[in-house]
Amino acid sequence: MPVYCITGSNRGIGLEFVRQLAQNPDNTLLVGVRSLSSDLNDLEAVTSKNPSAHILELDVSSEDSIKAFVKFAEDILQAKNKKIDYLLNSAGVNIASTHNSLNLVSENVHAQIAINVLGPAQLTASLLKAGLLSNDVRVLNMTSGLGSAQLSIDNKSNQCAGYSISKAGLNMLSIHQAHDLRAHLPGVVVGLMDPGWVKTRLGGSEALVEPKHSVEGMLSILHGLKDEDNGSFFHYDGKRVPW
Ligand SMILES: NC(=O)c1ccc[n+]([C@@H]2O[C@H](COP(=O)([O-])OP(=O)(O)OC[C@H]3O[C@@H](n4cnc5c(N)ncnc54)[C@H](OP(=O)(O)O)[C@@H]3O)[C@@H](O)[C@H]2O)c1
Repeated sequence: MPVYCITGSNRGIGLEFVRQLAQNPDNTLLVGVRSLSSDLNDLEAVTSKNPSAHILELDVSSEDSIKAFVKFAEDILQAKNKKIDYLLNSAGVNIASTHNSLNLVSENVHAQIAINVLGPAQLTASLLKAGLLSNDVRVLNMTSGLGSAQLSIDNKSNQCAGYSISKAGLNMLSIHQAHDLRAHLPGVVVGLMDPGWVKTRLGGSEALVEPKHSVEGMLSILHGLKDEDNGSFFHYDGKRVPW
């Protein structure tokens, strides 16, 4: 009867995680959405049959929002005497995707770092501090092939510079988390996941992979993570991604 915490769940890949996980009534879901005032119709449709799915506001770029979310999560988990087994840091943004390194706008880069890097960092640290992560929690940080230095060299990347920089930052964060969390949670495994080029608002309609297929692959990897996978970088199809 595992507990999953998923960020960025009202659409895209986060919504698809919830759709697949909510089908098992044994799963408790802490379902984070940036704003409870946004359109949650799709999300409510997929959670309606699972009484253990709790939709909670969680803006990962706001320390106050993280704090309030952790308090709600604490109340829910204490009542069930449970901790989080799977933390899925899926929320993310790609702002100004046509920009390269020569026309970066600092406001955009700051926003991407706040959401894509500091969000997972602060949420994970806050949940740890509140004692809400299980000893062998699996932390999935949603990165991108665009965060891989080697792939960016190979592909001569000339777009999405701010996004790539933020995802490369998330990759380095994950390496640090993989080490630092072990001091508190001996069985923790942190995994970086590249979901492929997925048909979502961020990926666009020309993307190659259906959310269902990407998420099935990532859940299979997530559930198979072993101790020695701590700090590893996976493609949704199970292959390793070069750093
Ligand atoms: N789609 C792809 O091809 C692709 C490829 C590589 C990596 N990824 C990564 O996969 C993850 C999910 O992307 P997606 O394709 O599902 O994108 P998406 O459809 O644009 O969804 C992004 C999600 O992130 C949420 N979000 C944005 N800012 C947030 C914040 N401050 N706090 C909490 N939630 C926030 C959005 O909520 P609102 O609707 O409320 O804004 C939305 O639920 C991202 O980390 C992305 O970088 C996607």
